[in-house]
Amino acid sequence: MSLPSLPSPPVLSSSLQARLSTPLRIGNVEVNSRVLQSPLSGVTDLVFRRLVRRYAPDSMMYTEMVNATGLHYVKQLPRLMEIDPHERPISIQLFDCRPDFLAEAAQRAVAEGADTVDINMGCPVNKITKNGGGSSLLRQPEIAEAIVRSVVQAVKVPVTVKTRIGWSDQEINAVEFAQRMQDAGAQMLTLHGRTRAQGYNGSARWEWIARVKAALTIPVIANGDIFSVDAAVRCLEMTGADGVMCSRGTLGYPFLVGEVDHFLKTGQLRQSPTPIARLECAKDHLQMLWAYKGDRGIRQARKHMTWYAKGFVGAVELRGKLAQVETLDQGVVMLDRAIAQLAQSGWQTEEVPPQLVEI
Ligand SMILES: Cc1cc2nc3c(=O)[nH]c(=O)nc-3n(C[C@H](O)[C@H](O)[C@H](O)COP(=O)(O)O)c2cc1C
Repeated sequence: MSLPSLPSPPVLSSSLQARLSTPLRIGNVEVNSRVLQSPLSGVTDLVFRRLVRRYAPDSMMYTEMVNATGLHYVKQLPRLMEIDPHERPISIQLFDCRPDFLAEAAQRAVAEGADTVDINMGCPVNKITKNGGGSSLLRQPEIAEAIVRSVVQAVKVPVTVKTRIGWSDQEINAVEFAQRMQDAGAQMLTLHGRTRAQGYNGSARWEWIARVKAALTIPVIANGDIFSVDAAVRCLEMTGADGVMCSRGTLGYPFLVGEVDHFLKTGQLRQSPTPIARLECAKDHLQMLWAYKGDRGIRQARKHMTWYAKGFVGAVELRGKLAQVETLDQGVVMLDRAIAQLAQSGWQTEEVPPQLVEI
């Protein structure tokens, strides 16, 4: 039986390299990378961002989304908004439907050190949309506009918007909506190429990102289905976007943003981590989460560890065990044992790519 042929490596055209060789300018903030790590609720805490930044020192990162109404009623800063003074550039993402609460929350975000404030207008989750936040703002553009105006007035840092192409196939309004956000003062727009009705299903429709890019003068960041360097390059070529944002592709793979950034800067593919390197990273992630959040961190680490454990014989069984880890020591022992087994079986130097042996 012959193995399926390997995809050809991505090529960085001279026109794309030239177009993206300058810093990304978000209002008065300059970012030396065209690749961004997306906000991911339940994932992009301080620990995860620290791991991503190891491989992507210049990239823009986002906190998990923070509820502005919730913030209004608490004095103590929620952990979601904690940022490391050294982690720049960083954006704090907020969600809500109240312009006044969002303006107040934005001021607190800036006081914490946020370089930009991002407003979530794309979240599809019912709990959020039924309260008027996230993607439901696509159906209430006048409120979305009032939000951007109010936040822009309240803070000196650039205000950005992350949204989807529309509520449903019958209600795609990406171009008009994006123009309205720009007119209201947004300094960058990130567009996830799916409708709210799609959730995370089907393909991201990058053609809509191209249309929005053609209509705006502020930077447009393409988002949706960027799972590899190759996808990032194809998306940037097709959409003409000013950068790409990686999301689910980074789950258990904090190397992705750095890999894409390195390729766009050099035209060279960075060596992908071996399964052993991924499990070593899982161990770091577990230890850092425990140090930061204690036992709650161990529970949160379970999903991360299962995402890292992919692409080698025995991965399914290991995932089952990692999903039930109760203590730091248990997790470390499990990962060390798996690493030793992989080293013994020669996987460290195996050249067959994971997708051909995925089990
Ligand atoms: C687990 C999870 C959490 C997410 N949390 C957020 C969030 O807090 N804020 C946000 O703007 N988008 C959030 N998103 C959406 C992603 O940022 C991104 O727009 C989406 O996953 C599309 O990109 P992808 O196809 O590359 O995954 C989340 C997505 C997932 C899967």
